[in-house]
Amino acid sequence: MAATTTYLTGIQTSGMPHIGNYVGAIQPALTLADSGPDVESMYFLADYHSLNSTKDPQKLREDIRSVAATWLACGLDPTRTILYRQSGVPEVFELATILSTVTAKGLMNRAHAYKAARDRNAEAGSADLDAGVNMGLFNYPILMAADILVMETNYVPVGRDQAQHIEYAADIAGAFNHLYGENYGFPVPQGRYPEGEGSVLPGIDGRKMSKSYDNHIPIFLPENRLKKLVRRIPTDSTPVAEPKDPDSSVPFRLYEQFADADQVAAMRKRLEAGGTGWGEVKDALFETLNATFAGMRERYEQLVAADSELDDILADGAERARTRARATLARVRYAIGMD
Ligand code: ADP
Ligand code: TRP
Repeated sequence: MAATTTYLTGIQTSGMPHIGNYVGAIQPALTLADSGPDVESMYFLADYHSLNSTKDPQKLREDIRSVAATWLACGLDPTRTILYRQSGVPEVFELATILSTVTAKGLMNRAHAYKAARDRNAEAGSADLDAGVNMGLFNYPILMAADILVMETNYVPVGRDQAQHIEYAADIAGAFNHLYGENYGFPVPQGRYPEGEGSVLPGIDGRKMSKSYDNHIPIFLPENRLKKLVRRIPTDSTPVAEPKDPDSSVPFRLYEQFADADQVAAMRKRLEAGGTGWGEVKDALFETLNATFAGMRERYEQLVAADSELDDILADGAERARTRARATLARVRYAIGMD
C-alpha cells in the first residue's frame, strides 16, 4: 500500500466567511483534496480557538454552523475528506497537555499574537503588559500544534500569516521526538502557502478585505443585499466619457477575480477607451458574483437550517477523526510511559 500524505487545515469559527476567504483559503484548500489518490484531506472547525474571542454562546453556535455550511456549500465532499469540529475530538486536548510539557515557555513568549498584545498594552501606556491576555491566547500555539500532530499531518495549507505557528508545531514535534523518538515520533509538519500576492482581495474601502476592518463582502449575502453592498463601493469621480485606470478601482479588481478572462479583457478595454462608467463595472460585478454564488447560496441556506444533515456530517467526521486521534494517542502514551 502506498503511504498516504495527510493535509490538514483548521478554520476559525468567527462569522460567515467572505469572498476574500473564498479566493485565498477555501478554493485552494479544496483543490488540494483533489490532488491524488494517496492524499487524505482533513478540515476542522477550530471552535476552541475561537473561544478566545467569542464569549457569546449563541453567536458561537451560529458561527460554527455557518462556517461548516460554507465549506460544504463551496464543494467540500465529506465522504472523500474528513470535516469535524475540534471540540468533537477530545484527544486533541490530551495531546495539548502532553505537548506543553516539552515546550519552552520562552517559545510562547516570542509568539507573534502574544507579542502584538503586549505591544498594544505598551503603546497604550499600561503598567501591566499582559493586561487582557488570557491563557487561551498564550497557549494558542500549543493547541494548534496538537491539532496538527494528533492527525500525524504532513502538510498544512494556510496563509503566510500562520507560518510561525507551523514552525512552532514542527519545533514541538522535534522536542517530543528528541525525548521519546526511540518509541514513537511525530511526522514533522510543513506549511503549504499560496504563491504570490495576486489573490489578496481588496475590501470595499480598498484595504485588504477582512472581517476585522468590516469592509468585507460575505459569500452568501442574500441577492438584494449583495446588490446594495456592491453599489456602495466607493469609486473616483472620473466622468463617464473619460478613459479610466481599471487597476485603481476596487469593483474592477474584484471583477477580475470572478469573471472569465475574456470578459475581464473586454471590460478593461472599454474602461481604458472611455465612455464606460464605474456603475457599469459594479453591475457586471454584481451579476458575476451572483452567478458564481447563487447555487452555493441555496445549498448553504439548506445546510444552516436547524434540521439539516449538517449535524450528522459533523458527527460522522468527528467519529472518523477520533479513530485516527485515538491511535496516535495510544502510541504517544506508550512512548511517554502512560500506557
Ligand atoms: P479575516 O481577516 O477576515 O479575519 P482570516 O484571518 O480568518 O480572515 O483568514 C482566513 C483565511 O482566509 C486565511 O487563510 C487568509 O489567508 C484568507 N484571507 C483572509 N482575507 C483574505 C483576502 N482579503 N484575500 C485573500 N485571502 C484572504
Ligand atoms: N490559527 C489558524 C488561523 O487563525 C486556525 C487553526 C487552528 C489552524 N488550528 C489549526 C490552521 C491547525 C491549520 C492547522 O487561521
